Amino acid sequence: MLATLVRELNMVRLSVGAVAMIALVGCTGLIDDGNSGLTKEEVAAREAWINGAAPVLSTNCVACHNGSRPAIEFLAGEGDLPMRDTVLAFTPAVVNLDAPASSRLLTKGVHDGPALLASEASALLEWIKAEKDAQPAPEGETPAVEIEPFIPAICTSGTPPAPTCPVNDVDLSVLGLAGAKLHFVAQALGSGLYLNQLSIIGGPDGVYLEHPLFVSYPAGAEEPTFDTIDRFFNVKINSMANATTMIGGGTAAFIGFTATDKISIHFKVLKAYQPDNGMGGGGGGGDNGGGCKALASFKTNAQALFSNPVAGAAQSCRGCHAGQNGNASSAMNITGVDSQTDATIQTACNQIRTRINTTTIDQSGIYLAVDPANQNHPFRLTAAQLTAFKNGVNVWINAEKVAP
Ligand code: HEC
Ligand code: HEC
Repeated sequence: MLATLVRELNMVRLSVGAVAMIALVGCTGLIDDGNSGLTKEEVAAREAWINGAAPVLSTNCVACHNGSRPAIEFLAGEGDLPMRDTVLAFTPAVVNLDAPASSRLLTKGVHDGPALLASEASALLEWIKAEKDAQPAPEGETPAVEIEPFIPAICTSGTPPAPTCPVNDVDLSVLGLAGAKLHFVAQALGSGLYLNQLSIIGGPDGVYLEHPLFVSYPAGAEEPTFDTIDRFFNVKINSMANATTMIGGGTAAFIGFTATDKISIHFKVLKAYQPDNGMGGGGGGGDNGGGCKALASFKTNAQALFSNPVAGAAQSCRGCHAGQNGNASSAMNITGVDSQTDATIQTACNQIRTRINTTTIDQSGIYLAVDPANQNHPFRLTAAQLTAFKNGVNVWINAEKVAP
């Protein structure tokens, strides 16, 4: 079972990679067919390089670091990709894949050359993190594991603990993590399966996981179906003993999955909490791939913009998205966004976090929904109000982008 799954997984990755690559060739012409077979992580790293890091380095740094001066030619190489290979391989190292934020490229600061702007540093960091994710798992790493397929309990109405709304608590002790559980509430959608409260609950050993992939086993079909967008490919969670951590912000809609079919979850890595893996210094247990990490920035820059009307607007997001309007709140529930208590604000922020796109910030759901041109959303901002909204909220999104 597992062997087939992993083989299938590689095929999914390949086809996803191929699609992304066509997009890349279309816009830059830089990646040729010789690169087919890239994993999704590798494609993401190349995109982050071509669209993020390379332009920053070319504009600010290449002039002195392209070989015109000896011993610091870490940006030598004709063209973007050769330049990437040089900078990654350069000694003494200027890129540290084990601890991306400490890379000398980022920490050098003003010297003969200029300091990086925050947005430039963020583009470089994003790229280095993507290169880190694209590294093959080190030798001796626990092999990928899969949960035994099961039929999820479906919530038909209400919210837990209503008898019509059971929760799913999948026992992970069989996978070597005594007391750990994968928790979620599942609802049937016309077009798929909708999960919320999706979280990992640690046992005494806590949980470290990477890249959960949801798989559906359609009754009677020979082959399983995968989460078509492999949405959690860059999720890494390091959760301390007995802590609960949301996965990918806690909600996910799997289009094409049927609620009555068995599902399972495949993890690239699943093991006990890792005290020293460089994720947040081992503290807090709140590190995860989805929930808000930059809560302080959210409070300073964004909280009020969700709690109160943007200047000149008739309503606030909270006016509909905090329980008053069922459809609004099931799309994005920000109850408690106006709270003074961090834990409550965190829950609301986690919901908003699922509606942002850190790669292309303007494509974030929170902006598209209230865009003056969007006739589907019952409330819109004017262009000027949207700009004011973005000016505040973007500060937080940029902080989320670079949060470790
Ligand atoms: C005007 C020329 C110039 C520009 C532009 C320039 N640098 Fe430098 N850089 C130097 C010189 C000279 C050194 C060697 C002396 C030193 O370490 O300060 C150096 C050294 C470095 C080092 C240390 C390399 C090592 O192995 O010790 C890093 C990292 C670095 N630069 C990063 C950057 C980045 C990032 C940019 C673009 C934001 C940049 N530099 C732009 C001139 C420049
Ligand atoms: C008048 C009530 C109302 C207000 C005010 C409101 N919304 Fe909504 N919103 C809704 C409803 C109803 C839905 C669900 C219907 C839908 O899916 O379009 C929704 C859906 C959304 C969605 C999900 C869209 C999707 O495609 O899944 C987002 C994101 C969103 N709103 C963001 C916001 C933001 C940001 C604000 C404040 C700037 C806001 N909303 C203010 C009523 C409102």
